Parts: sequence; C-alpha cells; structure tokens
Amino acid sequence: MKPIALTGIKPTGRPHIGNYLGMYRPALDLMKNYQGMYFVADYHALTTMRDPEALRELVYEVAASWIALGLDPDEAIFFRQSDIPEIPEFTWILSCFTSKGLLNRAHAYKDAVDANLETGRDPDEGINAGLFYYPVLMAADILLYGSDVVPVGLDQKQHIEITRDIAEAFNRTYGEVLKVPEGVIQESVMKVPGIDGRKMSKSYDNTIPIFAPEKQLRKRVMRIVTDSKRPEDPKDPEEDNLFALLRFFVKPERLEEIRDLYLHGGAAYGTLKKELADSILDHFADARTRFNELINDKAYLDKVLLEGAARARSMGKPYLAAARKATGID
Ligand code: TRP
Repeated sequence: MKPIALTGIKPTGRPHIGNYLGMYRPALDLMKNYQGMYFVADYHALTTMRDPEALRELVYEVAASWIALGLDPDEAIFFRQSDIPEIPEFTWILSCFTSKGLLNRAHAYKDAVDANLETGRDPDEGINAGLFYYPVLMAADILLYGSDVVPVGLDQKQHIEITRDIAEAFNRTYGEVLKVPEGVIQESVMKVPGIDGRKMSKSYDNTIPIFAPEKQLRKRVMRIVTDSKRPEDPKDPEEDNLFALLRFFVKPERLEEIRDLYLHGGAAYGTLKKELADSILDHFADARTRFNELINDKAYLDKVLLEGAARARSMGKPYLAAARKATGID
C-alpha cells in the first residue's frame, strides 16, 4: 500500500481561493504518490462554533468542495471526523503523554491568553478547554491512522511539531507503537493575499469564496484594495495585491503583458479586476457546476462520508488497539 497523506479542514467558513491554492490543490496533488485521507474536522470547529445549523451546513459545503475540486471518493478516504468514535478515545490516551506546558505554548491558546492579559482580564477568561486541547485532538487525527505525511499551511506547523512530540513521548515509554509523521508545509499559503492585502483568511473577512453566486464573487473581486494611481501611472507589480492574485489565475504570457502595463503605464485597476473575476470564474467553471449539484444531493454526500468513515475506522483500529495494549488499557 502507498504511504498515507492525511489532512483535515475545519468547517468554519466557505472555502475560498486561499484554501484552494494553499491546501486543496497541493493535498490533491499528493494523491499521485500517496493514499489520501481527507476529513472534515467538525470536532475542531466546535471549539469556536455555536450555531448548529451553520455547522451542519458548512460540513456539507466543505465535503462538496473537496469532491467538486477533484477528490475522487473511490480513491481517497474521505470522511467526517465525528464519525470516528475512536478519535475521542485516542485523544484521551494521547493527552496522558502530552506535557501541559506544551499546550500552554500552542499558538492559538497562547494568543487568546495574551489578548486577555493585554486588556487586564483573567488569563483564561472566555477560553474553553477544547481550544486548549485542540493540538491533542489533532494529534489523534494524525496518529490514529499511521499517517506518513500531513500537508498543511504554515499556520499549522506548530501543531505537527506537537503531534511529533506526543508520538515520540509515547514511543519512548512503550517502544515504536506510533508512527511519527512528517509535515509537508505549504509555505506559499502565506502568499495568497486577501482583498485587503493581508493573508487571505476567513477571520479577516477578506476572502474570495470559490462557490459563491457569480454576482457575489465578482463583487468581492471588485472590492480588492488598490492605491489611487491612475491607469497611465507606472506601478510596482510586486507591491500590488491585485497583481499577486492575477499571478495565480492568468496565463504566463498574459501575466507578462500585465506586468509591462504596470511598469510602463496602462494598467487600469478596474479593468484588471474584471479580468481577474473572469479568470477565476473560468478556472472554477466545472467545479462550480459540480458543487451546485452536490450541495443539493446531501444524501449522496452522507453516503460518501459514511463509507469513508468505515474505511478510516478499519485503518485506525489496529493503531488504537496497539496503543491500548501498550498502555495496559485493554
Ligand atoms: N487544525 C487544522 C486547521 O485549522 C485542521 C485539522 C484538524 C487538521 N485535524 C487535522 C489538519 C489533522 C491536518 C491534520 O487547518
């Protein structure tokens, strides 16, 4: 069997082109040499989401996105995290090998504490223990199936390091029971700017969603922030987030023409935004059609996810059994 590439995506927002370039596409590319295991991380989403209808709907949107963007559910093992009852059990076992100090230093938790301290509040105010445990749950996701590689964005690098630490601590005690995974860090994920020029991220509300209705998608693109230079003014393409986005979606020859217009005058932001919107719609035309079919066929999505979960569970059971046996919980 091929080595395993595993990754999860949290259903906390609509998939956007930053997710696509930084995460879906590289993960799907790995399918050539790896057995892909992809899942919708709904337990992780529960650390922040409080709207049950929204959570249910986003699970379907993320599932439909994966398939629309090229995931073949017969090849990849594709599932919903909460359909794997072994995950919470394994999370507990692993937590007993996780130093609490390691979790204190995890970015998401530490940032929340720092924000509280800055405003003079109790360090843990408003922070749930699920957020604190987030890295252990993620380690369980990765270690349960003996994953070899984990393709993630730079923001998840620390979580992979924590996973490795946990696996190593477990193995130091009991021998080589767990497979220590490698992260495959997509550095470029940081370089996809949002419409305001900061990193494209749902938390900044600066995304370009892939599957939004055409009018909405065009509106987002037209809102890309630029400076106030006139078309005839020369501009530095490397300093411009519209150019940075065009780079991903127009053909190389056309990009060179546009670069020339930037450097020597003639680049009108409005016209180029329209070209970017056209290119994005063109690039995702088939995926958008497929997405609309899938999102209206939840029975099919449920079936795919449940079949995937059955396959994932059969992959995970031997690792959990070995961990239980090693510790004496069996
Ligand atoms: N924490 C990841 C994110 O926010 C999602 C995730 C959950 C994940 N479990 C995982 C990614 C396991 C890779 C492997 O993007």
